[in-house]
Amino acid sequence: MFAVLLLDPDMVVREANPAAEDLLHRSARRLVGERLLDVIGLDDERVAHRLGDADARLTVRGMVMRCGERAMQVNVTVSPLATHPGWRVMTFSEVGQGELGDEGRDETTLRAPSILAHEIKNPLAAIRGAGQLVARKLDEKDRPLAAMISAEVDRIARLVDRMQRLGSERADPVEPTNLHEAIRSAIATVRAAGGGGVELVEEFDPSLPPVLASRDALEQVLINLVTNARDACAGGEEPRVVIRTRFVSGLVSNLKLGRAIRLPIEVTVSDNGPGVDPSLRDHVFEPFVTSKSSGQGLGLALVRKLVRDMDGRIGHQRDERAGLTHFRIHLPLAREEGEPA
Ligand SMILES: Nc1ncnc2c1ncn2[C@@H]1O[C@H](COP(=O)(O)OP(=O)(O)O)[C@@H](O)[C@H]1O
Ligand SMILES: [Mg+2]
Repeated sequence: MFAVLLLDPDMVVREANPAAEDLLHRSARRLVGERLLDVIGLDDERVAHRLGDADARLTVRGMVMRCGERAMQVNVTVSPLATHPGWRVMTFSEVGQGELGDEGRDETTLRAPSILAHEIKNPLAAIRGAGQLVARKLDEKDRPLAAMISAEVDRIARLVDRMQRLGSERADPVEPTNLHEAIRSAIATVRAAGGGGVELVEEFDPSLPPVLASRDALEQVLINLVTNARDACAGGEEPRVVIRTRFVSGLVSNLKLGRAIRLPIEVTVSDNGPGVDPSLRDHVFEPFVTSKSSGQGLGLALVRKLVRDMDGRIGHQRDERAGLTHFRIHLPLAREEGEPA
């Protein structure tokens, strides 16, 4: 049960549901008319600051909220009311003990996309069939467009399959994969979806050996990262996304079956946008975390799951001086040195 507060443009509580009364230990009568920040205290200055922006849509997970003497950890959403400028609906749910573990949290929150996935597959089959029919009527020069419909529908269908398995332990099988081919197709897909005037630049180390990965998963990871990077810088001056690959020796490793495996293949997607919103910085890889009005907040959750399935690592950094945001993946080699060919 979600606690819900209706806030007016002055951030005064106008309505509170019973769950909000329970959570805040106050009757609705004693909540209504109070200023929100007199009722609850937010330790996170940046969230408090974001709340000052009446148009901001906000999702924060695991935020510490004080209420009188009590401190609790809550998931919070804030949504503007389209019909009433300045008014907002705020929901809270306390983070339960069972939910605190990182893995457990994924399980519960990912059931919704699994249901959605089910609903997507039938229309996809119809789109694919219609695409094939249309292709027959097209001129030779327009056929590649129809081929793209089929290819993309197939990719989405596979993605949907994966979403259904997001909560499960199963991983796509990995095999020696050409990293640069995967990156190029990902870039082509993002371009076809409308680049938004953003320059997409490849900086590849052509001598890189094959990576141990699932081709589909890798492509999906890159599409998601490049799309986010494009979204992030699209509004700015000379928007630019750079996809860089390089070999990094030593250091980065992962443990599997008690054995360290090295992750020397590095892919970095960098953009010159403003960077990840500070209130989201530690949460971007969690499902349903988004700062976009039409975002689903599933892109990076899927990226994290797919990268982990490939025994890889993902992280993000901000280089304030250079004005760049980096999302960086590390992956294993197809073959460790010393292993037979
Ligand atoms: N390159 C980036 N620069 C700034 N913010 C980013 C970047 N990539 C991701 N984010 C933030 O992470 C959020 C979650 O991303 P994602 O999981 O792909 O969901 P969505 O793109 O649907 O919002 C985005 O809404 C955005 O706030
Ligand atoms: Mg995204």
